[in-house]
Amino acid sequence: MSEAMNGVEVKATAASDVTGYRSFELGGFTFTRDEYFAQIAWRANGQQLSHKMSADAFLRAMMRDVAWGFFYGWVNFDPVIGTRNRYGKVDLYAGAYHPAYKDKGLDHTETFESPQIMATFKAILDDWTNEGFDPFAAPEETQTSWAGRKNGHNRAAIERQRQACRRMPGIEGDTELRTDAGGYAVNRAFADVPQDEPEVTAEPGFEQEVHAFNLFAYLSRSDVTWNPSVSSVLERSLCCPTTEEYILPIKHGNDRVEWFVQLSDEIEWEVEDKHTGAPRAKVKMRAGDVAAMPADIRHQGYSKKRSMLLVWENATPGLPDLYESGALKPNPVEF
Ligand code: PHB
Ligand code: FE
Repeated sequence: MSEAMNGVEVKATAASDVTGYRSFELGGFTFTRDEYFAQIAWRANGQQLSHKMSADAFLRAMMRDVAWGFFYGWVNFDPVIGTRNRYGKVDLYAGAYHPAYKDKGLDHTETFESPQIMATFKAILDDWTNEGFDPFAAPEETQTSWAGRKNGHNRAAIERQRQACRRMPGIEGDTELRTDAGGYAVNRAFADVPQDEPEVTAEPGFEQEVHAFNLFAYLSRSDVTWNPSVSSVLERSLCCPTTEEYILPIKHGNDRVEWFVQLSDEIEWEVEDKHTGAPRAKVKMRAGDVAAMPADIRHQGYSKKRSMLLVWENATPGLPDLYESGALKPNPVEF
């Protein structure tokens, strides 16, 4: 059976009589879920292979891939499954960056047009996310309704649009984003964050040009976790602050250097080799710490209390090729 999602055909079965969930096909991959697990299957080396993930971890990861448009570089759902953004096309792989699969030829990669894989991922997310489960929320803030048989939807959560400022928050023309007026309450973890705004006295006539705002107050009202929002754009320099609690649901494989500024509390990062997953470093970042994450790693963050992180991205076109060809070193500083 096939259906259209955003005008693109998606291959899906009818809902299972037992679990209520549908199964999906994308190229040679099949996706099925049951009460607890998502399973992805593929063929390689004349064998049928499959891999399971807890459905909540799978949905949290897939939510990021969809919301971020496949992000920069690699989005590993776990050590086996993931996507690589080729900017216009997307690789979906199983085992391709896991030495045990790769060395035995049991890995499989297929490249899809971005709209095709996006439509399929959105259809999976839509069908597999039950009422009450928000894949963007911290575990303490969402229900365990991800488990069990199919029960309704949570479209409001999965179709949430990433907030992009049109102008600096608080200046006319932007937004009541993340204010009481915008309907965003201060998160329980940030009850102590002062909400006062800086006093700005602009020359008459420049009131719409000169402005400042309290980024901590703004972030204290973020209702999602591990979802950087683009809060300033200066040419190719993107400041993407975010609030983090529990585990980054993906292992991001960088295709460029990215900088982290820990704005509050603590995050522990596990840093691994991008291609093999071999451990490379553990980095504990405390408030005020700054790190450059190299272009040849994958990483996953752990935040025991909701914390604030500034992710600083370089959106210069062509960067992935410069790193891949060795024209640029993977780390920005030599010590
Ligand atoms: C990253 O992979 O670099 C990343 C992604 C999402 C976040 C923070 C960091 O919330
Ligand atoms: Fe990253």
